[in-house]
Amino acid sequence: MTATPSYLVTGANKGIGFYIARGIAQAYARQNAPVTVLLGARNPELGKKAEAEINKELGGAVQNGVKVQFVRVDLLDKAGPGEGLQKSVDEIGGILGGNGLNVLVNNAGHAYKGDAFGRDVAFNTIQTNLHGTVRVTQAFTPLLLKSSGARVVNVCSSAGLLDSRKYSPELLQRWQEIAEKGSYQDVDKLTAEFIEAAGDESYQAKGWPRQTYAVSKAAEITATKIGAREHVGKIWFSACCPGWCKSDMAGWDRPTKTAEQGSETPVWLALDGSLVQNPSGRMYREGQEIRWAA
Ligand SMILES: NC(=O)c1ccc[n+]([C@@H]2O[C@H](COP(=O)([O-])OP(=O)(O)OC[C@H]3O[C@@H](n4cnc5c(N)ncnc54)[C@H](OP(=O)(O)O)[C@@H]3O)[C@@H](O)[C@H]2O)c1
Repeated sequence: MTATPSYLVTGANKGIGFYIARGIAQAYARQNAPVTVLLGARNPELGKKAEAEINKELGGAVQNGVKVQFVRVDLLDKAGPGEGLQKSVDEIGGILGGNGLNVLVNNAGHAYKGDAFGRDVAFNTIQTNLHGTVRVTQAFTPLLLKSSGARVVNVCSSAGLLDSRKYSPELLQRWQEIAEKGSYQDVDKLTAEFIEAAGDESYQAKGWPRQTYAVSKAAEITATKIGAREHVGKIWFSACCPGWCKSDMAGWDRPTKTAEQGSETPVWLALDGSLVQNPSGRMYREGQEIRWAA
């Protein structure tokens, strides 16, 4: 018997993540095919509310095996034995009943409002967007490796594109070298230099932008490329930009897209299993591959 396809979406209680979870479930419901969509959220109350909302909309599809189920996943949890993130992995392993996880969508992310800047702003943003995303990916890797054609979709941002207006030539080169042949420890070291420079106001002289979110998303894209190299042929990685979407993070007035529209590219990357034939670790926007470095 073939296993029911399974997807985990982090930060799915609201915003783009909610619509990614809903979009995946709806795609299966349209085909009368079963699916397990694990709706990751750090706040159980909000997670269960979102789960109930999507399942209500799905109506009869739930009887046909389209299941959306809340699971607590906090990117800032520790991943050691018996700790928060491992409990999430164990819970999902139990729900999947010995089968692997097909797709992990790392959507959860953090951004400060306005032009907040400084050591703590840089540290906290990078903790979630880089280290949290990598920690979740590493924690779920054993479950992903149990399924063939597994995929990881990282919801990054065009803010993370490399641009000579943002970084010195030396930093541009370091980003690219790490992406091509470096390790997660190298991204950690580079971003730690940024955090320090953000704290002592030396960032400009050292070639960094006054943009913590952009640096955190460049780091997340770099981590996508490292993951792709580490799991070549086993887990297919992609990074993407949802576009500028109305949400609690980006605000409700100025962004041009709805969060539902923003979910379209991540949903496509999550659903289209044939994409594994393309090179792993690339960046996508509006349904097509884009260059990371300008
Ligand atoms: N909106 C845009 O214009 C835009 C553009 C480019 C990229 N993005 C990216 O798209 C993704 C979704 O953003 P959004 O606009 O939908 O923002 P949002 O509505 O603020 O949603 C962010 C989600 O991430 C969750 N989250 C934050 N920290 C977490 C943690 N430590 N553990 C678990 N979940 C955590 C939030 O949970 P809580 O509700 O508990 O806080 C929420 O579910 C982010 O990665 C963002 O960087 C957004």
